Amino acid sequence: MKPLTRIALVSATALAAAVPALAVTGEEVLQNACAACHVKHEDGSWERIDAARKTPEGWDMTVTRMMRNHGVALEPEERSAIVRYLSDTRGLSLAETEGRRYILEREPVAFDEGPDVQMTQTCGRCHSYARVALQRRTAEDWTHLVNFHLGQFPTLEYQALARDRDWWGIAQAEIMPFLAKTYPLGEPVGPFAGDASGRYVLAGRQPGRGDYTGALVVTRAGEDYQVTMQLDFADGSESYSGSGRILGEGEWRATLTDGKTQIRQVFAFRDGRFDGRWYHADSDVIGGRLAAVRPDAAPQVLAAQPARLKIGAPTEIRVAGAGLSDALTLPEGVTGRVQSVKDGVAVLELTAAGAAGPVSVQLGGQAVELVAYDRPDRISISPEMAMARIGGNGGPIPKAPAQFEALGWLDGADGKPATEDDIPLGAFPAAWAVDNFDEEAIAMQDAKYSGSIDDTGLFMPADAGPNPERPRQTNNAGNLKVIATVTEGDQPLSAEAHLYATVQRFVDAPIR
Ligand code: HEC
Ligand code: HEC
Repeated sequence: MKPLTRIALVSATALAAAVPALAVTGEEVLQNACAACHVKHEDGSWERIDAARKTPEGWDMTVTRMMRNHGVALEPEERSAIVRYLSDTRGLSLAETEGRRYILEREPVAFDEGPDVQMTQTCGRCHSYARVALQRRTAEDWTHLVNFHLGQFPTLEYQALARDRDWWGIAQAEIMPFLAKTYPLGEPVGPFAGDASGRYVLAGRQPGRGDYTGALVVTRAGEDYQVTMQLDFADGSESYSGSGRILGEGEWRATLTDGKTQIRQVFAFRDGRFDGRWYHADSDVIGGRLAAVRPDAAPQVLAAQPARLKIGAPTEIRVAGAGLSDALTLPEGVTGRVQSVKDGVAVLELTAAGAAGPVSVQLGGQAVELVAYDRPDRISISPEMAMARIGGNGGPIPKAPAQFEALGWLDGADGKPATEDDIPLGAFPAAWAVDNFDEEAIAMQDAKYSGSIDDTGLFMPADAGPNPERPRQTNNAGNLKVIATVTEGDQPLSAEAHLYATVQRFVDAPIR
C-alpha cells in the first residue's frame, strides 16, 4: 500500500489537468487495473462500476478508495485517465447536480440538510448530505453501499445519533427504499462534445474584498484547455493562468496560479456560459463566485456593481454582460449617462433623486435592476453561522479561517424587518469584532484565545495544540459571536452571527 501522504497529494491534482497528457486511455485502465476484481458481464457492463453515476469528485473518491483500501496501484496519469473516463461515461447531468453544487465548489456551508430529519441523521452526519444526493445507483447498489458502510466502519452503530436507535434496522427498512426511489440509476449523459474556446466577460464578487468584472480566456490545447482569468477589483487587478478540462456534460475543473497563489475553478459550463466558484487551493474559504459569457452570447446582464444608488449622490455602476448597448432609458427620478461600453462592461454614472426602492434602468433592450436607498433599514451578517478551524503551529493542517460580510436591507413595502418583501442592498463595509457566545465561553475566555477578526470580516483562528494558559491546557477552540457595525448616516447599525472556532478537519475528502 502506498503511503497516505502520496495518495492525498495525487488527489489534489487528479481533476485539475495538472498531470501530463494521457499516454493511456480510461478503458485501458479499467481492463488493466480494475478487471482483476470487477467482473465484466457478457453484456459488456462492469460489476459495481456500471451500477452508479457520480460527479468527477465522486469518481475520484471511489478510485482513491480502491487505491488506499484495496491496494490498486495507479500512476498519476492512469488515475487521471480513469477519473476522466468514468466522469465522461457515467456522470450526472448538470441539472442533476443543481442545489448541491456548493459542495463541489467548496463553498463554506456550516450545515448541510437532507430532505428530512431522518435522512440527515442517518446519512448526513459523518459527511454532507450532498455526498449522498450527488449519486445515482441501482436499488441493489444502494444496498451494497449501505452494507459497505457498516462493513467498513463497524463502530458506526456506537456513534452519536446511531447508538440511541436501531441504525441498521432504520437503514434497511427506510433508507434503502428511499435512496432507490429518490436517486435511481437513470440514464448517463453524453460527454461535452463542443469547443469552449473563447474570450468571456466575467462578473462576480469575493466576500471580504468586493465586486469584480474581468475576462476569462479559454483556449483549446489537445483534450484540455489553457485558461487565464483576470479579475478587476475596485482596488486593482489580479491575473491567473493555468489549465482546465471539461468532464462529463459540462463540469469545468481548472488549476491556475499567479506565480504565488494556486487557485482552483469549479464551474458548470452550459449554453456557452460558465457559472461557479474559484478558491485558493490551500484555503478554500478564500474565493469568489462568477458568471462568464462570450460577448456574442444571447443578450444578458451578469451583474451590476454596485446594484444600489445612494439617493442624492452620483454613483458609478459597472454592468457586465453580453449584447450591452449605450442606449440608456432612465425611470423618472434618476438622471445620468453611459460613460463607456467596452469588452462586455458598460460603465454608467447615475444619480437617484426619488424615493428609496427598486429602480429599473434600461440599457438597450435589457433591464438593469438597481435599488435607490438613503441608508439601510437594517443589516445582517452572512453567513449567520460559520465554522473556523484552529491549525498551523507546526502541525500539518493549516488554519481554516471564516469569512463574514455585512449585508444591508430595506424593510420593503410593509415597513417591517425580516419579511418576504425586504430588499437586499448588497454588502457594506463594517467594523468587526468577536465576543464570547455564552456563559461557558466567558468562563473559558474564548474571545481572548480562539482567534481574531480583521476589518474585512475575515476571522483567523488561533494556533492548534494544547494551550498551557487555558484551563486543563485545552486547545484554542471556542464559541463566539461575531458583531458587525455599519455606519451609514448618523445611527450605526449592528448585527450578530455565530461562529464556532473548532478543531481541524483531519480527513478532508473532495466531497466533504
Ligand atoms: C483488489 C480488488 C479491487 C480492484 C483491483 C478494484 N476494486 Fe473496486 N472494489 C473492490 C471492493 C472490495 C469493493 C467494495 C468495497 C468498497 O466499496 O470499497 C469495490 C467497489 C467498487 C465500486 C463501488 C463503490 C461505490 O460505493 O460506488 C466501484 C465503482 C469500484 N470499485 C471501481 C473500481 C475501479 C474504477 C477500479 C480500477 C481503477 C477498481 N474498482 C479496482 C475491490 C477492487
Ligand atoms: C459513520 C460515518 C458515516 C455514516 C453514518 C454514513 N457515511 Fe457515507 N461515508 C462515510 C465515509 C468515511 C465515506 C468515505 C469512504 C471512502 O471512500 O473512504 C463515505 C462515503 C459515502 C459515499 C461515497 C461512496 C463512493 O465511493 O462513491 C456515499 C454515496 C455515502 N457515503 C452515502 C451514505 C449514505 C446513503 C449514508 C446513510 C445510509 C451514509 N453515507 C452514512 C461515512 C459515513
